[in-house]
Amino acid sequence: MIYTDDGSISAYNDAYNDYYHDKKGALIESIYKHIIPAFNIINKSHIRILDICFGLGYNSFLSLVFAKKSNIKVDVYSVEIDLSLLKELHNFPYPKIISNYLEIDRIFDCINNDKIFVDSNSSLNVFRGDALYFINTLDSGFFDIVYQDAFSPSKNQLLWNEKHFLSLYRILGDRGAVTTYSSAKKVRDIARFCGFGIFDMKFANFKNGTLCTKGIYDIKDLDSVKFSYVKL
Ligand SMILES: C[S@@+](CC[C@H](N)C(=O)[O-])C[C@H]1O[C@@H](n2cnc3c(N)ncnc32)[C@H](O)[C@@H]1O
Repeated sequence: MIYTDDGSISAYNDAYNDYYHDKKGALIESIYKHIIPAFNIINKSHIRILDICFGLGYNSFLSLVFAKKSNIKVDVYSVEIDLSLLKELHNFPYPKIISNYLEIDRIFDCINNDKIFVDSNSSLNVFRGDALYFINTLDSGFFDIVYQDAFSPSKNQLLWNEKHFLSLYRILGDRGAVTTYSSAKKVRDIARFCGFGIFDMKFANFKNGTLCTKGIYDIKDLDSVKFSYVKL
């Protein structure tokens, strides 16, 4: 376990030789690079999110929390290949914004027994297996948002290549979007080649992220109160 600068706890994966989150903060990375852009850009009362990949669950869980707080119906789909990680996480010291709002034990009981977690206004469905297989089974145009949150492009190459971004384009609806912590030129070039519009997400205290949009989006469509976007 690793304490990040915002006090939230993350981890390091020896097999991939990579961190699960930015050392500046697991919580703020998830909130600023995924949750706020997602809830900001999709102006709907029912949002379908694909979280690639589940990892420690910050993105999926915070989506359920934000859904609860904003009275929006959210269906979160996620995928995770590391089954032993999923078995250990019910004891993970999640930040209070997660543990105070969600029934963590019931959620992990569902995840580890292949059941969908259903709450009053939200659901979480975690597929235990390979994201590359899972994404191929998904219907075209089904999702509003994809959180692209695999390990870094050099460590998790198959989840950052052209084939993968074409799949993401296929499963997103007309005005859907991909959020990612990566600001790598190579990733942005691939996403642009696959048809996405590319926006740089700038933050005061940590590394830029990228918002990849499907359909025509202009800078005025994005609320830049919490941070600024630059269209590239
Ligand atoms: C950076 S972490 C995800 C962090 C997570 N989104 C969170 O909020 O805590 C990357 C995760 O991708 C998983 N992973 C890597 N390759 C995968 C694959 N092909 N299919 C499914 N999961 C994969 C790893 O096991 C790891 O848990």
